[in-house]
Formats: sequence, structure tokens, C-alpha cells
Amino acid sequence: MPENILEIEHLSLSIFERQIINDISFGVKDKKITCLVGESGSGKSLTMASVLGLLPDGAVISPESRIKFNGKNIFSVYQDPINSFNYSVRVGKQLYRMAKGYRNTSRKEFDKGISEVLTRLRFTDPASTLAKYPFELSGGMLQRLMIACGIYVAPSLIIADEPTTALDVSIQKEIMRELRAINHELDISIIVVTHDFGVVAELADEVVVMHNGVLVESGDVFQLFDNPREGYTKALLEASFKEAYL
Ligand SMILES: Nc1ncnc2c1ncn2[C@@H]1O[C@H](COP(=O)(O)OP(=O)(O)OP(=O)(O)O)[C@@H](O)[C@H]1O
Ligand SMILES: [Mg+2]
Repeated sequence: MPENILEIEHLSLSIFERQIINDISFGVKDKKITCLVGESGSGKSLTMASVLGLLPDGAVISPESRIKFNGKNIFSVYQDPINSFNYSVRVGKQLYRMAKGYRNTSRKEFDKGISEVLTRLRFTDPASTLAKYPFELSGGMLQRLMIACGIYVAPSLIIADEPTTALDVSIQKEIMRELRAINHELDISIIVVTHDFGVVAELADEVVVMHNGVLVESGDVFQLFDNPREGYTKALLEASFKEAYL
């Protein structure tokens, strides 16, 4: 197995002629948690959409862009989970269909397994949640269900886009703990997309910083926090951890 589960080289992307991502290159280490961090609009989600081959209308990737995935499969948890669910089908059935794409499992086996994961993620009554329709649940709840499904299927890479933004603090902590646990226990590589350096501090082994469609710097989390090379990263860190830096 190569050291990097994912390699992105010279990725550039435009949407209707507007340059959005500008020649970014980075590797995602196998079996590690990588945080892709940057302000809103820096191009994080579109970088991940490029990896998944799920580009919006009008998006064009430049011909010199190279994306190489060295793993078996990717499970993606989207920033906007409402759009990944069908409104007229119960969530349990939809999650089962998703899981079937990764694991050969019966509905009964799936219900048992996903309920265990949901209990760990502090769902009080998994069975009744699974029986609900998407419009009966909040965006944060749907995103947690997707994360639970990702944990259940145990792919080689999970991409979680802003997995904690919409959640209250104790549930945020639980999600982060579970992501950390599956990374440790199952050796699953994880990319967490976030604008929150608190999440980076909590989770990341490796960090990639983006700004305005450009890669600012990337590397080991301790190195980056102790000794950010770029002014932009320093400013972001100072803004996030004011007390610690004063
Ligand atoms: N479907 C689209 N059509 C046109 N422009 C888009 C589209 N999606 C994103 N953009 C633009 O591309 C830029 C990068 O968007 P992207 O969603 O990748 O940012 P992001 O870093 O994920 O931000 P956020 O933290 O807000 O999720 C933004 O300026 C955005 O307006
Ligand atoms: Mg985004």
C-alpha cells in the first residue's frame, strides 16, 4: 500500500469560466485523519467533489489535474445532507441501500449493526429514527445518520464535509470521538473538511490549509500549530485561539 491513499496533483477547476481552484497539490496519508481547513468559499467542498467526480453544472477540471485514489472505496458525508436523501423513502431503507453498495448485508443484519453505531452516537431510539422520513429529521440529524452509515460500512476512506458545524457541543464531541475511534480501530483514513481550528486541534494528524482556491500550506498538525510557515495560517490560528496566543 502506498503511503498516500489519495494524491491530488495540479488540480485546477473553473465554473462557467470563473477560476475557483488554482493548481493545488497534496497527498492524504493512509490510515490518518487529514483536516482540510479554510474559510468559507476557499474551495474545500469543490476539491472533495473533484475527488468524488461529482461536479456541479458548468464545472471544468483543467487537463493537467491528476487525482489518484489508492484505496478500495470512499464513503462521503456531504455538507448539505438534505440533498442526499430521497424525501419519500424512510431513512433506514435509504441507509441500507447506501450500505449495500459497500457491504453484502441483509436488512436485518444492517438494522442491528447500524443501531449499535447509532447508540454509540447517542441516538436514544435508533429503531424509531430509522423508521422516519427525511423531512421529519433535522439536517444535523441526517448528517449524523450518514456518518453512522459510513462507520458501519467501514470503507478505506471517509470524507466528512463539516461534520460538526450544525451540532451542539456534546454531540460534536461524540462525532469526533467516533471518527477518531474508527480511524484507530479500523485503520480507516478520514478527511474532515472544516473551517474550525478547534476541530483540527481535536482530530487532525495532518492538515491542509486552503485560501481562495489556493493551497496555503500542508503538513503534520503539531508542526503546523507550533510553527506555521505562512502568515495566513498564523492569522487563522491567532483568530481561533486568541487566549492561547496572547
Ligand atoms: N455550483 C456552483 N456554481 C457556481 N459557483 C460555485 C458552485 N459551488 C461553489 N461555487 C463557488 O466556488 C467557491 C468555492 O466553493 P466551495 O463550496 O468549494 O467552498 P468551501 O470552502 O467548501 O466553503 P464553505 O466553508 O462555505 O462550505 C465559492 O466562491 C463558491 O461561491
Ligand atoms: Mg463547503
